[in-house]
Amino acid sequence: MKKRFDRKTALITGAASGMGRATALRMGSEGARVFCADIDGDGARATAEAIRAAGGEAGSAAADIGDPARCRALVAETVGAFGALDILCNIAGFGGLKALADETPEGWQRMFAVNVHGPFYLSQAALPQLLARRGNIVNVASTAGLMGQAYMAAYTASKHALVGLTKSMAVEFGRQGLRVNAVCPGGTATPFLATFAVPEGADPELISRLSLRPDYAAPEHIANMICFAASEEAEFVNGALLSVDGGTVAG
Ligand SMILES: NC(=O)c1ccc[n+]([C@@H]2O[C@H](COP(=O)([O-])OP(=O)(O)OC[C@H]3O[C@@H](n4cnc5c(N)ncnc54)[C@H](O)[C@@H]3O)[C@@H](O)[C@H]2O)c1
Repeated sequence: MKKRFDRKTALITGAASGMGRATALRMGSEGARVFCADIDGDGARATAEAIRAAGGEAGSAAADIGDPARCRALVAETVGAFGALDILCNIAGFGGLKALADETPEGWQRMFAVNVHGPFYLSQAALPQLLARRGNIVNVASTAGLMGQAYMAAYTASKHALVGLTKSMAVEFGRQGLRVNAVCPGGTATPFLATFAVPEGADPELISRLSLRPDYAAPEHIANMICFAASEEAEFVNGALLSVDGGTVAG
């Protein structure tokens, strides 16, 4: 039976953990050749091994996506390993809660380096392959890419920027058949959430507005949407901001 990602090659960042790992496993099980990248090289290798153990094809590499040269090399390594690149999933990212007054220039810059600059470097490097193969990009933004969130100025600004990159690329390349979409999760049960300590003196009412529901999504819920956006089922979906947040951004 034909699988959704037969003969497709995907480069997935953040593949060591959480949504990136769930997406890599899912795409691998649906026929994709998956190149797993993460700053945690051992974790990326473990995900690739799990894909191969299940009968799929996968490679892996350690990479800090804040480094433009490493991003270019990552695309070259993917094409070197599998001969092509059809799907780029920019999933790696980090966040955290911090009162605005306590944010530092270094913290602000690192947030942008990983959450925005990395996806830009990778998208630019992947462009020739993706245009030639009518491929697509899925960026993982956040509810914080669609609405203001207290105690998260750097993270929220970085995810809004990623949404802007998504929309601009969708318009610039949509007529050439390259699709660029953003999946916008709400709170999801991954190690990422462990970094979200409520700042001292934070207003509980503002914290309660971060999520409509009291529970968290599973990483597989987000992987489902990423895989849909990356698949040919979503052939006419371009520049879309796809919420998976239990209704948080609805009002
Ligand atoms: N978990 C949530 O509640 C939530 C909500 C909305 C959006 N997101 C977004 O989802 C994405 C995935 O997060 P997750 O929840 O799966 O978290 P996670 O911590 O489980 O996974 C993130 C992965 O990114 C990797 N990473 C971090 N910095 C990197 C860098 N510089 N270079 C390469 N890899 C790097 C980490 O090593 C980790 O494996 C992130 O972009 C995050 O902002 C998460």
